[in-house]
Amino acid sequence: MLFRLPASSLKSVHSLKDVAANSSRLVARRTPVRFASSSSASSTVKSVLDSRAALASAAIATVGSIAWYTHLYGTLPFVGQVHANSPAEEGLHPPQYPWSHNGWLDSYDHASIRRGYQVYREVCAACHSLDRIAWRNLVGVSHTADEAKAMAEEVEYEDGPNDQGEMFQRPGKLSDYLPPPYPNEEAARASNQGALPPDLSLITKARHSGPDYVFALLTGYRDPPAGFEIREGMNYNPYFPGNAISMARVLFDELVEYEDGTPATTSQLAKDVVTFLNWAAEPEHDERKKAGIKAVILFSSLTLISLYVKRFKWSVIKNRKIFYNPPVDKTH
Ligand code: HEC
Repeated sequence: MLFRLPASSLKSVHSLKDVAANSSRLVARRTPVRFASSSSASSTVKSVLDSRAALASAAIATVGSIAWYTHLYGTLPFVGQVHANSPAEEGLHPPQYPWSHNGWLDSYDHASIRRGYQVYREVCAACHSLDRIAWRNLVGVSHTADEAKAMAEEVEYEDGPNDQGEMFQRPGKLSDYLPPPYPNEEAARASNQGALPPDLSLITKARHSGPDYVFALLTGYRDPPAGFEIREGMNYNPYFPGNAISMARVLFDELVEYEDGTPATTSQLAKDVVTFLNWAAEPEHDERKKAGIKAVILFSSLTLISLYVKRFKWSVIKNRKIFYNPPVDKTH
């Protein structure tokens, strides 16, 4: 809208002055737009100020600097924010990590999902469930159908009732969900000093800064600063709201032996398990981006075609000239 305004229209403000000076007559004088080609230096400056490009670039610079500030500090400039919690109560804000699937056109690193599953299974599954993931979900993502079947069969599931009305145990199938570590919440709390290890299926969506937070949490354990009282059985972690978490540090160098030979450093383990958890929370990610690219290709070609058709159809009308020949009065 702004760009469509001729710069001279702003000048109509001057006409107000004229009105004041010459109140008897309304003078609506329009100052013509002068361009940079004007000879004198002062008029060059003036014409730059007048020009539409100056108007446009000032608008872009304003919008750009507001966007940059908002990106840097997370709030709009000059708009105050009131926090109910202190920063310590909210936890330290995690840094932004360059996840390999962050880009618009990037898919998940599936080798990392496979390693992450291994970390989940060998470490986190001792305390955390992953209720929303079934064995079949792993097929074609991180494991082959045969591998997933073999892993499912290692777990015993209760099924039934059979002909005698009794429940029985059977080896798992692809359609079964990953087994939870505890039968119910009470058992989970009882084994973790009253704290409940949350289900990890949607954890990257359930926390502010998602994967960045979980990575920072897993790698962020350290000694509490001087003066920070920490209760027995709790652990200091600056990223956790309140800074005292009942989950102890679980990832250490060489804790897991990767089958593909990747060095299993703490940060590598954390990166892989977070990539896996991110997939668990957002399994449609790759398909979504692929569909997005298809939509962009499709709709931009349709737009080009419709622009062409519009020009084609209108060319007759746009090139038409209408003449008016006044009737000649033959009587004279
Ligand atoms: C020994 C048991 C145990 C293991 C092993 C374990 N956790 Fe936890 N985890 C917990 C408990 C207990 C909590 C709840 C902490 C609290 O609320 O203070 C928790 C909480 C969490 C949270 C939620 C933090 C929040 O913001 O609420 C995440 C994320 C998490 N664990 C990830 C993991 C991952 C990933 C692994 C594997 C690498 C793992 N945990 C291994 C016991 C465990």
